[in-house]
Order: sequence, then structure tokens, then C-alpha cells
Amino acid sequence: MSEPAVAVTGLTKVFPVPLQRRSIVAVRDLNLRVDAGQVYGLLGPNGSGKSTTLKIILGLVSPTRGKTEIFGHDSSRVASRESVGFLPESPYFYKYLTAAETLRFYGKLCGMRGERLSARIDELLELVRLTEARNRRLRGFSKGMLQRIGLAQALAHEPQLVILDEPTAGVDPAGSREIRDLILDLKQRGITVLLSSHLLEQVQEVCDRVGILANGVLVREGTMTELLAVQNQTEVVLEGARPELLTQIAALATNAGARVIDQRTPQTTLEQLFLEATERSGDASR
Ligand SMILES: Nc1ncnc2c1ncn2[C@@H]1O[C@H](COP(=O)(O)OP(=O)(O)O)[C@@H](O)[C@H]1O
Ligand SMILES: [Mg+2]
Repeated sequence: MSEPAVAVTGLTKVFPVPLQRRSIVAVRDLNLRVDAGQVYGLLGPNGSGKSTTLKIILGLVSPTRGKTEIFGHDSSRVASRESVGFLPESPYFYKYLTAAETLRFYGKLCGMRGERLSARIDELLELVRLTEARNRRLRGFSKGMLQRIGLAQALAHEPQLVILDEPTAGVDPAGSREIRDLILDLKQRGITVLLSSHLLEQVQEVCDRVGILANGVLVREGTMTELLAVQNQTEVVLEGARPELLTQIAALATNAGARVIDQRTPQTTLEQLFLEATERSGDASR
């Protein structure tokens, strides 16, 4: 098997609570594997240990027990950081800089200069669809645009893995959709994405695999298809079926030892409805 992009083995993190004789177990005996090229979603309610896990993988917080690796390099080693980009939960940007200036700043931090840097800035703005806004100050950006600048910053040094902590929190549906499309773009380019979220619908469309954390414990793990399949049931969607046909189908099913347990009109999602209804009166500033 090829080397995983992220491997977490027996990870436990205990935070002492100063002045109280107790401690918080933020992550408990966690094992995870993110294969290269996948989009992996770490889900869980607030306080379930998602950010702590991501910070340990990034080498920003040290584990109490266990270890984490990025492409085979232990997270405590500098080498592990060369191939990873990070979008933190609440990124802070200097609001008087323009989009292009912000990326110039981060590009310089990554050691880029001159024409290579200018070309990379253009590429990044294009990638996160902010070319039009390149000379606007971040002060006037929507939350979704700020997250996209954050994503561009995380991608500046062309990492093979990006870690996104709650990339769509506080972003409106159209903005979230754009971020999801960007994540799919990254996947197309062969970049591995590890993201955390407590917004479940938003994860469903982009993730190949998810892990669900509750109180620091991994309670479910698997591919979306495995996790969401309702066992032993099959859905058939018909168009133009008259009531007699439905009666016949029910009879056929009974004869074959099966049972029709539900009959309904397929529903779109509220999100889809919302996007369709609002797209037409589109907001050019986004
Ligand atoms: N630096 C810290 N010191 C003490 N407790 C912390 C620290 N960071 C996180 N925690 C605690 O660890 C638990 C998990 O937090 P976190 O990883 O931020 O969860 P999530 O990202 O899923 O919301 C919470 O109970 C939180 O209060
Ligand atoms: Mg968090």
C-alpha cells in the first residue's frame, strides 16, 4: 500500500486545567489514515477534539501519547511541514492589504521572490476565483471571500496536503458552495484535503471518507457510501408511473418475497432550492 498522506496512531491529548484538580481529555486513543488524493472529513460537535487533532497533525500542539505523521514524516519534524498548507479556524488577515498584497506577503514567507512570486499570485487568485478582487482591500471582503484568500495562502507553496479547519463556518450557502467547488478542484489536481466541520450537509458532497468524533473518541469511520447506505434496501425512481403500475409493482414485490415500504416524491434539498432561487438575483460582489 502507498504511504498515507496522514497517519494518526494511538493519539491521546490531555489538557490540564490550571487551578482545578482535573484535566480534559480532548482526544482519546485516535487512529486515522488519510490516503493520498482523498478528501477526508473529520466531523463532530463543538469541543469534540477536531481542532486539537488537526493542530497535532500540523505539529503545532504536542501529543500526550501516540504519534502523527504527514507523508511518513513525524509531525514534530520540520520536514513534515514542507508538504502541508493550513487554513486555521478563524484566520486573521491584515484588513488594509489587498488580496494580491496579502498573497505577496505569504509568498515571501515561503521564500518566493520576483517573477516566480508574481506568477504564483496570479495563479492563486485565479484558483480561488478572486482575480477580479485582486486590488480590493480585505476590509470589504465577505466571510466567504476571506476564507478563499485563506485557502490561497495555504496553497502558496504548492503543498501536497491541505488541512482546513471549519472552512465553511459562518459562510453563506453560495459562498460555501464555492469553497466546496474549490476543494473538488484541489482533489482533481491530486492534492489531499483533510478538513474538519460540524456542518454535515456541507461535508457530504465533497468527502470521500469521514470520521466522526464525539468527546475525543472516533465513533464512526468509513467512506460516505458505506456510512450512508441503508442496508438491505433499494430505491427505484419512476417517471410517469400511473397508480395501477404502482399497485402492480407492489404485488410483484410481494410475490418475490420483498416489500414496498415507502413510496414518495423525490425531494430536492433546501440548499439546492435556496441556491437556485438566489442565483438568478446573483450578487456580483461575491
Ligand atoms: N489549549 C487548550 N487548553 C485547554 N483545553 C483545550 C485547549 N484546546 C482545546 N481544549 C479543550 O479540548 C476540547 C476539544 O477542543 P477542540 O479540539 O477545539 O474541539 P473542536 O475543534 O472539535 O470544537 C474542548 O473541551 C476544549 O475546551
Ligand atoms: Mg475547532
